[in-house]
Amino acid sequence: MKGTLKIFEPFESDLRKFDEHFAAIMRSDVKIVDQIAKYIVKHKGKQFRPALLIVSARTVGEALPATYTTAAVVELLHTASLVHDDVLDDSELRRGFRTIHKVWKSKLAILMGDYLLSKSLIAATETGSLEIMNTVATVAKRLIKGAMFELQKARKLDITEEDYFRMIGDKTASLISACCELGALTVNAPPEYRQALKNFGENLGLAFQIKDDLLDYEGNSGILGKPALADLEEKKITLPLLYALRESPEKERKKVVKIIKNGAGRKELQYILQLVKERRGLEKARERADGIKEAAIEALAPLPESPARQSLKALAEFVLTRKN
Ligand code: FPP
Ligand code: MG
Repeated sequence: MKGTLKIFEPFESDLRKFDEHFAAIMRSDVKIVDQIAKYIVKHKGKQFRPALLIVSARTVGEALPATYTTAAVVELLHTASLVHDDVLDDSELRRGFRTIHKVWKSKLAILMGDYLLSKSLIAATETGSLEIMNTVATVAKRLIKGAMFELQKARKLDITEEDYFRMIGDKTASLISACCELGALTVNAPPEYRQALKNFGENLGLAFQIKDDLLDYEGNSGILGKPALADLEEKKITLPLLYALRESPEKERKKVVKIIKNGAGRKELQYILQLVKERRGLEKARERADGIKEAAIEALAPLPESPARQSLKALAEFVLTRKN
């Protein structure tokens, strides 16, 4: 299946069912909505979140109709957040293709994001579960809160390590954790399994985002499908730089903040990259992500042994070794 992670291959027939469900949900009789929706479906990503939800449900039992519906809910919500995020970051490319707001302009992109968010909430009501609806709406709130906090920090450039973890908890770990918890909810899992999956997801999400931030320093644009060092250009200070600055004298710290504030050029970006490497920022961020990944794996302990649990464990390892 195109784009599916190898780890999730044993669940291919589940994922194919989801694919059909998602394409059907995206169809619209409003021409412009349908055009943008088709573009999104054509350039879809790894569908990591719906797959994670389905495999989480599988650690407890068989996937049920509510499992597929909720998998579509999280993909809709995630897509909505990315369409809005690309407007906020004014990104040219997503997954190697032009972003919605570059193809159709920002006004339509914002409305499409709102539309997808509404669709996601409507789809959640189809499960008839207030707990599912509440979890989804709470995540949407956390995503938006995280994005607002990040915007504010990019303006002030005064982010601390604590701020960083709060922000990535809201903007990334919240949805990944909710996918795991929602998977459990869709199969009526006992509370201890639900909690175990939620904890696994929160840690997996933190590790995932730290790796994302590392890739921005480590990767090249061909593999990433977006420019490397884009975070610095977007005035985002992430963990590798935070750790490097902690080891830097005051003068150097001030210089870096000034460069970022004024908009770093190519040469200045290389200077910051060099500094991050020299001050072991990358190594320290990798170590931190590794510890969090171990906590994710430990959180799986209460769940019964199964191929799905094995896949989640393998996924935690993969999250840190991936190249894009
Ligand atoms: C990617 O971050 C973006 C997110 C994880 C979520 C952003 C959330 C919003 C914009 C709030 C809107 C939410 C809804 C529900 C409509 P990134 O910019 O660090 O990663 P990237 O490199 O993939 O762009
Ligand atoms: Mg972005």
